[in-house]
This record gives sequence, structure tokens and C-alpha cells, in this order.
Amino acid sequence: MGCVLITGCSSGIGLEAAVAFGQRGDHVLAGIRREESAAVVAERCDGLPVQPVLLDVTDRTSIDRVVAEAVAEHGTIDVLVNNAGIGAIGSFEDTTEAVYRQVFETNVFGVIAITQAVLPHMRAAGGGTVVNVGSIVGRVAVPFQPFYTASKHAIEALTDALHYETSRFGIQMRVVEPGRIPTEFGAKLVSERAPKDSPYRPLLREWEEGWSSIPGRDDLAPASEVARIIVAATEPDSPRHLPAGADSETLIQQREQLDPVAFEEHLRTVANFPA
Ligand SMILES: NC(=O)c1ccc[n+]([C@@H]2O[C@H](COP(=O)([O-])OP(=O)(O)OC[C@H]3O[C@@H](n4cnc5c(N)ncnc54)[C@H](OP(=O)(O)O)[C@@H]3O)[C@@H](O)[C@H]2O)c1
Repeated sequence: MGCVLITGCSSGIGLEAAVAFGQRGDHVLAGIRREESAAVVAERCDGLPVQPVLLDVTDRTSIDRVVAEAVAEHGTIDVLVNNAGIGAIGSFEDTTEAVYRQVFETNVFGVIAITQAVLPHMRAAGGGTVVNVGSIVGRVAVPFQPFYTASKHAIEALTDALHYETSRFGIQMRVVEPGRIPTEFGAKLVSERAPKDSPYRPLLREWEEGWSSIPGRDDLAPASEVARIIVAATEPDSPRHLPAGADSETLIQQREQLDPVAFEEHLRTVANFPA
């Protein structure tokens, strides 16, 4: 079994992915950005080959340190799981520059920085797998989280573009696309939603009510199910794009089957959000 580096393991999908790879017998380097998260990882991963490592994906020094230590100890990193991510809810107009930059720093530039640090070692070793944690909103653009949506669309494009560049070096690119998953993600949003006087405030409320009731949202997949899909994504015969959760599977399928105008009509109808 190999060396697996996962970002964002203090909670949610990353923590469950650490458990799942650990149970497969891999040596897991579980990225956390705060010392106190080590106890959470130690408790959830008790008895498994999972080692917490301090890693902030927006901090180049911490990326270089973790990658160098991993390669010194294990020779290479066989699997990189780019899971760390933050969300922001609010209209395009209401979102501040500080917030949209933070979203891209973490969800896009962080993924780019760590992937660039790891790929040379995968190439030298003759292969590896990069699993990016995208989102349903990387396939389907939705309102009121425009920068999060754009960041996850960027992850989809990076995954596909890198696939062409790296496949001859034996490197597999994957993107897992969860729908809504019950984690701490919603509690850690970095935005302020809508100021009291915002003209978008009632629209945001209306959209959120409709969006939370789209088909599949009454049957949420747990983070452990996304973790199972992340592990399965490392298999050589895995598809490159892997929706996770019934809501994601359904909506992505509809997006593929309908033309853009028909899909917009469909989405507005199921989310009860007319033009
Ligand atoms: N939950 C959902 O409904 C959902 C749906 C689709 C996609 N996703 C994606 O799934 C991934 C995991 O999210 P989750 O649902 O498991 O949420 P979560 O429980 O909030 O986990 C997010 C993780 O990312 C870490 N993180 C944030 N900024 C970081 C940084 N700069 N450097 C390193 N780590 C950082 C957090 O660490 P701290 O504890 O230190 O903040 C936490 O460990 C994200 O990429 C998210 O976009 C989630």
C-alpha cells in the first residue's frame, strides 16, 4: 500500500477519507492547519496508520515542508487528495474582495500549489493519483455562491486539462463531485450572506429554500460515503468524474441530458426560482 496525502482532515470528508485510506492499509498523512485538530484525527483514526501533519494549502512553506518530509520517508506520494475547501454564500454584488480572494486562495490556488509540488515526485516514481474534491456546483452553476461555484468549475477544468498532460507519466486525475453532505462546511462559511439592506436578500432566501428541496436532498450521503468514493477513485478503471450523493448524481445527469436553455428551465422549476 502507498503513501496518501490528504488536505483538510480536521473534520468532514477529509477526516473520513483519512479513515478510509487507513483502513485500506495506506500510510496516511492527514493535513490539518491547526495543532488542536491533531487530537480529533488521533481519536477518529485510532489504531490506523494515519499521521496528522500541519498543512495550510495557502502557505507555500508548509506545503514544501510536508511534501519534502513525505518523500524523504516514503520515497513518493502515491495519492494526493485535494480536499481542503471553504465556502461563501452571498450574491456576486454583496461579496467582498477579501472573501472572494480567500475562496480562490484556498479552493483553487491552494490546489494548484500543492499539486505542482507533488507531481514531480509522482512522475519520478512512474505514477500516482490526484483526487480533487470538487462539487455538484462545479458541474452546475448556481446563484448566491458565485465564487465558490467558479472555484469548483476551475477544479473541474484543471482536472481535465491535467489529465491530458500527465496520463503518459502514469498519473491518474480524478474529481469527486459531492452534493450536499452533512459536515461542518456550512458552519465554517467565510462570508456574511446578505447585508440587511441588500436587494438580493429576499432572492437569496427564496433560492435557498428551493435549492434545499431539490430531488435527492432528503437523502443526504454521509461524509463516509464520499470517502468511499474517493478511495474507489484511485482504482485504474475508475471514471475521471465521480458524482457523490443522490442529489449530485441526478442533477449532473439532467445537466448532461438537457440543452442549456431546457436545463435552466428545469432547475428553476425544481428549485422554485422563476426568472
Ligand atoms: N459539505 C458539502 O456539502 C460539500 C459539498 C460539495 C463539496 N464539498 C467540498 O468538500 C471538501 C471538504 O469539505 P467538508 O464538507 O468536509 O467541510 P469541512 O468539514 O468544513 O472541512 C473542510 C476542511 O478544509 C480545511 N481547510 C480550510 N481551509 C484550509 C486551508 N487553507 N488549508 C488547509 N485546510 C483548510 C478545514 O480546516 P479547519 O478545520 O482548520 O477550518 C477542514 O479540515 C471541500 O473542498 C468542499 O468544498 C463539500
